[in-house]
Parts: sequence; structure tokens; C-alpha cells
Amino acid sequence: MNQSSLQVPAFSLILLIGVSGAGKSTFARRHFLPTEVISSDHCRALITDNENDQSATGDAFELLHWLAAKRLQRRRLTVIDATNVQADARQSLIDLGQQFNCPLVAIVLDMPEQVLNDRRKTRTDRSFADPVLHRQRRDLWLWTRYLEYEGFSTVYRLKSADEVDQIQVVRQS
Ligand code: CTP
Ligand code: MG
Repeated sequence: MNQSSLQVPAFSLILLIGVSGAGKSTFARRHFLPTEVISSDHCRALITDNENDQSATGDAFELLHWLAAKRLQRRRLTVIDATNVQADARQSLIDLGQQFNCPLVAIVLDMPEQVLNDRRKTRTDRSFADPVLHRQRRDLWLWTRYLEYEGFSTVYRLKSADEVDQIQVVRQS
């Protein structure tokens, strides 16, 4: 499949999937309106003024789901910017999409370890320990192999920074 253009239905629920530093928020900023993107970090910040406050994760996801439901109800394309590496974390979003008869799209940013390590060294907005990244990488590897069976109608897996740079997102009306 030619992956230089990612075709997505104009009304769809798009899950970005990738470990911390994979480039989900950068990708979301580049290809979608700010209002189309619901970010778990932003939801955390709305509640606690601190997007890194992990104690607010439960409330943040409640808010994320609530917002997503309101948008899908109005048939607005919606992008979820969260790691989404575990099947459990995706299930309630898949349920939500199905509830609104909304096509589900997965965009997996599966970046090489070297790229992730390089980005981590230069990143100033967030720092996290090695074990966290290792766990997320293991989860990505273990739990994103069968996305089509989970209910996604379209799955894109981007495996290098170059590939991500060249991508255009095309909306199908
Ligand atoms: N980055 C980069 N080149 C890209 C994409 C990202 O240099 N093509 C850098 C960003 O500038 C940022 C870091 O990599 O400093 C992480 O990118 P970000 O989009 O924030 O990654 P996320 O996947 O959103 O990470 P998190 O889950 O921690 O929010
Ligand atoms: Mg991010």
C-alpha cells in the first residue's frame, strides 16, 4: 500500500498510537485542526493545570471520552492523542466509535528506538525514566498486532521519521 497519503473518512475517529516521544502531538498539530484533536495531556492540564500530573489520569480520560462522544454525536472528525498502546486503553474508544457508527482509524507511530532515545535527550517539556519507555515499547509490540480484529477499519503503521515526514492525510468525503 502506498502510505505517502493516508486516506481517512471525513467522519472518523482516529486513534494515534505510539510511545511517549513517538511524535503523536507533532503529527496531530501538523495534520488536524486544534479543535479536532483531543489530547489526554491537555485533558489532564484542564483539570490540574499540569499535563504531567498522573494522579489525574482517571479524570482526564473521563473528560476525553465525554468530549469525544459530544463530537461524534455531531459527526465531527475526532483525533485521540494519547499513547493508546494497550488494547484495554483502546477498547472504550472503539466502543464509542461503534456506538456512533463511526469508522475507526488507527495511525501507529512505531519509531525506531534510536529515534526515540535521541528525541528524549533533547526534549525539554517532559522527562521520563527508561523503564517507562521500555514498558510502553513492549506494550506497543505486544498489543498492536491485531488492530483490525479490534474493530479498526483502517490501520496505518509508520515505521520511520522519514516516512512520517512525507505523509499527507487525505480526507475522503
Ligand atoms: N519531534 C521531532 N521530530 C518529529 C516529531 C517529534 O523532533 N518528526 C520531537 C518533538 O519536537 C518533541 C519530541 O520529539 O520534542 C516528542 O514529540 P511529540 O510530538 O511531543 O511526541 P508525543 O508522541 O506526543 O509524546 P508524548 O506521548 O510524551 O506526548
Ligand atoms: Mg504528546
